[in-house]
Amino acid sequence: MVKRFGGTKVLVHFGGGSVKKSGLLSRVEDALKAEEISFVELGGVKPNPRSGLVYEGIELCRKENVDFILAVGGGSVIDSAKAIAAGAVYDGDFWDYYSKGIPVDKALPVATVLTIAAAGSEGSPDSVITHEDGMYKRGASGESFRPKFSILNPELTCTLSAYQSACGVTDIMAHICERYFTNTKEVEVTDRLCEGLLKTMIHEAPRVIADPNNYEARANIMWAGMAAHNNICGVGRGQDWASHGIEHELSALYDCAHGAGLAVIMPHWMEYVMNHDINRFCQFATRVWDVDMDFANPENTAKEGIKRFRKFLSSIGMPVTFAELGAKEEDIPTLVKQSQVSDKNRMGGFVPLDDKDVEKIYRLCCE
Ligand code: NZQ
Ligand code: ZN
Repeated sequence: MVKRFGGTKVLVHFGGGSVKKSGLLSRVEDALKAEEISFVELGGVKPNPRSGLVYEGIELCRKENVDFILAVGGGSVIDSAKAIAAGAVYDGDFWDYYSKGIPVDKALPVATVLTIAAAGSEGSPDSVITHEDGMYKRGASGESFRPKFSILNPELTCTLSAYQSACGVTDIMAHICERYFTNTKEVEVTDRLCEGLLKTMIHEAPRVIADPNNYEARANIMWAGMAAHNNICGVGRGQDWASHGIEHELSALYDCAHGAGLAVIMPHWMEYVMNHDINRFCQFATRVWDVDMDFANPENTAKEGIKRFRKFLSSIGMPVTFAELGAKEEDIPTLVKQSQVSDKNRMGGFVPLDDKDVEKIYRLCCE
């Protein structure tokens, strides 16, 4: 596959120990050797990937004339690979793409061997990096970031802990919800795709937690992770993404898992914006969470849906408050200041939020 997409000198990029321990890295190395494709390696990507290693990777690619990057790991490894891919062929600082929102129009080709179903970076045109100078997260996007191919073998995810599996499921559900809560009318096809994927997660998450080797459940989650974020569920509809923006500062500052941060933020964001479109929240409650419609008091139906979502997240071991996550109320001003809302003044397509709204949502998470 690497050859088919023109790779002659490959950078194999990976994270901490998991791909060595599982033997996956050796399998990738053997496959490249068998095809007589030369390669260099750069490991050590941390979860919530950092700018420092990206600079190192860019230098290595230039020195070694790398023309293809193979990311072996999860969203962090893939995002780091994408950042290196852009930086290696850009005259300026790769961070320009992340800080200025310039669309990424040129990058080395990237492909992935995915080991965790979560971020959806294996099918997305996005990358999220934490800048080490200040520990804040920003994203960059562009079609040249979309992987040329991604290998999704559910067996590779059987070594994930119950906690990491649950973080992954939470992120997948969040990617769907960011698209589900829309102001675009008459989007029944994508609504139903979203609802089907959410229901699949509700069914499969407890099964992989009970049995990490449940191949069928792992396979359904892995496939859903791709469908949740390659934008098939988002075609033709407005999207929100405020919860992601609000969460990113939690995982940047506390180095928690992105999915765990979303478990805290997303239900609180829902409570905060619910009155903007009660009917949509009632649809979420009745179709996804099987809540009976209270026609006299639709607000009760909407609230019950959010309550069941939150209870589900707790049941799979996710934190749902600042305290459970280890976040501190006194850091809220810093979180607001570091968040994207301070770059753009507004965040979110369903309900545009300003910095005061973002602060209130962080405070709701402390109750
Ligand atoms: O570093 P190793 O040793 O590989 O361990 C990883 C890491 O500690 C471990 N892991 C991965 N696969 C494993 C495994 N452990 C055992 N067995 C396996 N098969 O899991 C830990 C988490 O890995 P990470 O790559 O950080 O997880 P995830 O895929 O959730 O990625 C999170 C990052 O993606 C970004 C997040 O902000 C965060 O930085 N996102 C990227 C997006 C995108 N590019 O489209 C969208 C997302 O919304 C998200 O923001
Ligand atoms: Zn996410």
